[in-house]
Amino acid sequence: MNDENKSIHEFDMNLICEYFSQLERQGPGSPEMTVKALNFIDNLTAESQILDLGCGTGGQTMVLAQHAPGKITGIDLFPKFIDLFNANAAKLNLQDRVKGMVGSMDSLPLGNEEFDLIWSEGAIANTGFEKSLNYWKGFLKKGGYIAVTYESWFTDERPAEIGKWWLDAVPEIDTIGHNISIMQKAGYVPVTAFTLSENCWTDNYFIPQKPRQEEFLKEHAGNKTVEDFIGFMRQEAELYSKYKAYYGYVFYIGRKI
Ligand SMILES: C[S@@+](CC[C@H](N)C(=O)[O-])C[C@H]1O[C@@H](n2cnc3c(N)ncnc32)[C@H](O)[C@@H]1O
Repeated sequence: MNDENKSIHEFDMNLICEYFSQLERQGPGSPEMTVKALNFIDNLTAESQILDLGCGTGGQTMVLAQHAPGKITGIDLFPKFIDLFNANAAKLNLQDRVKGMVGSMDSLPLGNEEFDLIWSEGAIANTGFEKSLNYWKGFLKKGGYIAVTYESWFTDERPAEIGKWWLDAVPEIDTIGHNISIMQKAGYVPVTAFTLSENCWTDNYFIPQKPRQEEFLKEHAGNKTVEDFIGFMRQEAELYSKYKAYYGYVFYIGRKI
């Protein structure tokens, strides 16, 4: 099987983690979009409890911490990401308010209705949009907010090549209207939905990967799996440039009723 036919799920998570641990972000996004989303959240105070799920090394978490009061707990499956997350918090002198812990987003070791805000950028597809919205609601206080970015279709129809690629990566992927209705059915009042700008993908995600890809290939010279993985990551960037009119990440914000 060549890399053109592979799906991201066929690559070892430790390999993906090693590759992304050297990058500032592990998914598309930007400080501007994080701050824009944060502007829809009211009533945060120094006592507020915020959860950032699938936080990675904390790119968006540190922006949140610099623009919102309260304490932030970041959770990610990978210990290496959490080590880097806690080191990044310490570098910015945020260690008293920002703490990372290893855990899975679908089995949270946390109390019910403890949080004022649940944040998650680029991660919810891993545990399912509908399933996670329903599960995470239990950890939010009444009136608390959820803010997540999620891969979404911009149109009802799309070319077969990109349709297949995303169905392999995120089988549940759907249109913005559909996703808003899922959020509403899960018991949130939809507050807003807006698409992430193109530079979130290009300047902040694909372009920083280029030197990392060269370096990773050198570090693993002759390793066919690594070559396939880099081929896959390059294909993701090519497909985005060809089909970006049809899909992107959307910030969905809702309020628990
Ligand atoms: C696309 S990355 C986004 C990371 C970061 N939020 C960002 O935007 O840069 C997805 C993250 O979800 C994490 N992840 C995947 N499955 C998870 C799970 N079941 N529980 C917790 N984290 C998970 C990955 O380790 C990774 O850090």
